[in-house]
Amino acid sequence: MPLPRQVSRKDADPGSGRHLVVYGGGGFFGRLVVRDLLQHTLARITIASRNPRRLDFGAHESRVQWTRSNFLDADSVRSVIRGADAIISCAGPYQGMSLDLLEACIRHGVHYIDVADDRDFVERAYRLGPRIEQAGIFAFVGCSVVPGMSALLARFASERVGGCDRVRIIISPGTKDTRGPASFASLLSTVGEELTVPRDGSRKVLRGWTERERVEFPAPVGRRWVYSVMDVADYVTLPQNLGARSVSFKIGSEMDILNRAMEMVRWIKSGLGPRMTNRLIPLMRRAIGFLGKFGTSRGAVMVEVTGPEGQRMALSVSRDSEGQIIPAILPSLAAGMVLEGELRTSGIVPLHTWVSEERLRGELMRRGCSLNYRTEPSSPWRIGPPGASPSGEGLELS
Ligand SMILES: NC(=O)c1ccc[n+]([C@@H]2O[C@H](COP(=O)([O-])OP(=O)(O)OC[C@H]3O[C@@H](n4cnc5c(N)ncnc54)[C@H](OP(=O)(O)O)[C@@H]3O)[C@@H](O)[C@H]2O)c1
Repeated sequence: MPLPRQVSRKDADPGSGRHLVVYGGGGFFGRLVVRDLLQHTLARITIASRNPRRLDFGAHESRVQWTRSNFLDADSVRSVIRGADAIISCAGPYQGMSLDLLEACIRHGVHYIDVADDRDFVERAYRLGPRIEQAGIFAFVGCSVVPGMSALLARFASERVGGCDRVRIIISPGTKDTRGPASFASLLSTVGEELTVPRDGSRKVLRGWTERERVEFPAPVGRRWVYSVMDVADYVTLPQNLGARSVSFKIGSEMDILNRAMEMVRWIKSGLGPRMTNRLIPLMRRAIGFLGKFGTSRGAVMVEVTGPEGQRMALSVSRDSEGQIIPAILPSLAAGMVLEGELRTSGIVPLHTWVSEERLRGELMRRGCSLNYRTEPSSPWRIGPPGASPSGEGLELS
């Protein structure tokens, strides 16, 4: 049901008095970020979007408020973020998206977190670094799975293999719960398009949704077919932050029929052009919505690092059900740490160092995720990383 401009609810959960604004908090991932924030912080949350719709947040509803606001409308953004402690942007797609929200945060001195995946968006945001620092705010740009969790897992793995020559990032989401239009637009943006990626210290040009490969995630996710796709920010952040000479990013559905359907989209796009492909988004969402009834909600992320001497270490974060919560964990954790004053230096937060391995592992375990490792693609996955205690405390690097 559409809501009028400002709707709040009253109940018995008073919260802490800290205030977060979540743009796109009613979208597929945004609502999971809000749910995680409600469970793990005491903040009041304002959900902002162009057409806010009522969602049920159960016992925490008193801490949630909805506001109609388009982030491209500077006056509306000013009135929404005024007095907020931080904003989280879950509004996408990030491909070609303006930096208006980040600019507004700089102007009004509000901490900023987003879930950007797109290389160009992240590069443009990084160019605002000096102004972000001057404003005395924190900016977490890309604080979700890629390039956020991938950066942390790549660092933890590279510390065990003595450096970071090559990084492979592989994601396999479940199909049971259909992602929002922005996620589909993001995925489709590079299907069939040329991508320039770092390989062996130089640049390789490939087409989106090619390089089909079978990989094995920890059970019960297991074997999945994956493809190179999307111009992810990791292609610049991992060479810059960890010195990686090769970076690859692959994704694939648990249902191979959907992977094959994307191959067809690649063909259609090369024949009919991107505008026609955008018209396919609602159709594809409906098709996946139907097929998803036969799918699971298992999801996993795997990051494999090869060190300078060829040693390998892969780390994987997975969840047996509701795997879609994995992308919501880092933005929520970052917001919680900002509210608790746990971060020190202002500016763009380096995605590979802001949280320790013990802390991340504990936060993942609190949310029902598993962390596994293996040293070779043929070796079995083990609960890990190596040297960590089962409780997530007292980790020792080997
Ligand atoms: N980096 C990662 O690893 C990662 C992981 C998962 C998702 N993502 C990204 O997260 C984004 C969201 O995905 P999703 O599946 O949740 O999409 P979605 O369901 O379509 O949600 C997008 C949300 O943004 C809001 N929105 C869009 N334009 C807006 C504007 N101009 N002003 C205010 N609100 C606006 C929409 O609400 P209204 O229509 O009401 O405005 C909606 O709530 C995608 O870009 C996806 O690629 C990144």
